[in-house]
Amino acid sequence: MPAVKPAIMKNLNKNFARLKPVGIRQFDYQASAIPGIIKLTLGEPDFNVPEAMKEAAIKSIQDNDSHYAPGNGTVALRKAIAHFMRDRYNLTYDPANEIAVTVGATEGIYASLTAITNPGDEVLIATPTFPLYASVTTLLGSTPVEIDTSADGFVLTPTRLKQVLASHPNAKTLVLNYPSNPTGVTYTHDQVKALAEAVKATNLIVIADEIYSELVYDGRHTSIAEFIPDQTLVLNGASKSHAMTGYRIGFIAGPKELMGPVSAAHAMMITAASDPAMAAATAAFATDAGKAATQQMKAAYQERRDFLVAALRKLGFEITTPNGAFYVFAKLPAKFGTDDVKFATDLAQKGKVAVIPGSYFGAGGQGHLRISYAASLDNIKAAIERIKHFVEED
Ligand SMILES: Cc1ncc(COP(=O)(O)O)c(C=O)c1O
Repeated sequence: MPAVKPAIMKNLNKNFARLKPVGIRQFDYQASAIPGIIKLTLGEPDFNVPEAMKEAAIKSIQDNDSHYAPGNGTVALRKAIAHFMRDRYNLTYDPANEIAVTVGATEGIYASLTAITNPGDEVLIATPTFPLYASVTTLLGSTPVEIDTSADGFVLTPTRLKQVLASHPNAKTLVLNYPSNPTGVTYTHDQVKALAEAVKATNLIVIADEIYSELVYDGRHTSIAEFIPDQTLVLNGASKSHAMTGYRIGFIAGPKELMGPVSAAHAMMITAASDPAMAAATAAFATDAGKAATQQMKAAYQERRDFLVAALRKLGFEITTPNGAFYVFAKLPAKFGTDDVKFATDLAQKGKVAVIPGSYFGAGGQGHLRISYAASLDNIKAAIERIKHFVEED
C-alpha cells in the first residue's frame, strides 16, 4: 500500500478543510453495528426496480447498446423526460437543448452549482435540508447561506426570502427542495406561486430539487418552474420515483441559455450516463407501466406515513404534517430537551432503533429526528413499539 509523501498533502484543495462533517452515513454506519437494530435511517426506497424497467435495461445490454451516448443523454430518454414533465407538471422542455440526463440528482446538483457559482459567491439554501447542497457549495469555494424555515412550518416564505436578501443582496442562487428531505413537508400551489413572485423580482437562479415530486400524498406537486421557468433549473430523476437509486439516473431541465454551461460542466465530469440505466429510465418516464409502478409504491408509502405519524404523535412527538417524500421530521417531546444527537444515539444504543438527528440537516433541524419510512410496515410497527418503550422508560 503506498503511503503518501507528507509534503504533498498541503497541495490538496483547501476547501476540503472548510467542509462541515456530514453525519448521516456515519451515523447509519455506526448504528448498523448494533445487533438487532431496526434502521429507519436512509432515504433509500425498499422496493425492487419495477420489472418493465429491468427488462429495458437487460434489452439494452443484449442489443449491444454499449457506446458513448450523447452528452445530454439518449434522445429517447430526453423525449421521455419531456413527456414526463408535461404529463405530470405541465412544464414544457425541448429535448433538443433544454434537458440533460445526469448521474443521479447528485450530479445535477454539482453541475448546476458549478455552472452558476464562482469562488466567493453566496448560495441561499432553505434549511433544514439535504446537506449535499452546502457541501458542494463549499467545495466550489462559495459560501452557503442557510435560511432557517422552521418558524414557518418548514416552508420558505416571500417575507423570509426578502429579509435574507436584504443582508445578502448579491446571492446568486437559491436552492429549494420540496417535497423535502428531511421534513417531508411540501409547498402548496399558492405557497409556490407567492415565492415565485418574490424570486421574479430578483436575479436569483432557482435550483429546484424536485426529486420527490412523484411522492406527494394529498393534492399534486407544483413545480416552481410553472411560474418562473426563465429563472429555474429543475432537478429530478428516477431514484425515488422508481426505486432506482443504484441505476444513477437524474436530470436537469431549464432554459437553453442556462443549460449550455450546465451541460458543459456535466460533460466534463461524466461524458454521459450509462446506456442500460438510461434505457430503464426511458421506460420509467415514458410508459404506463412506469407511472403505475410509482402509484403502487406511493400507496404503500402513504399507509406507512399515516401509521407512523399517528403513532409518533401519540408518543408526544410534534410533527408538521409531511405530505411528501418518505420522511417524518419529529420534534422531541419537551422532557427530552433539544439535543437530538444525544437522543438519537441513546435510542440506537438502548432502544435499538436508528433514526437520523435533525441537526445534521442544518439550521432549524435541532431538536428533531428524521425518521425514514422507506422501510417495511412490519419494521416500522416494531420500531414504534421500541420507541414507545424507550420514551416511556426514560
Ligand atoms: C433531496 C435530495 N436530492 C438528491 C438526492 C440524491 O438523489 P440521487 O440518488 O438521484 O443522486 C437525495 C437522496 O437522498 C435527496 O434526498
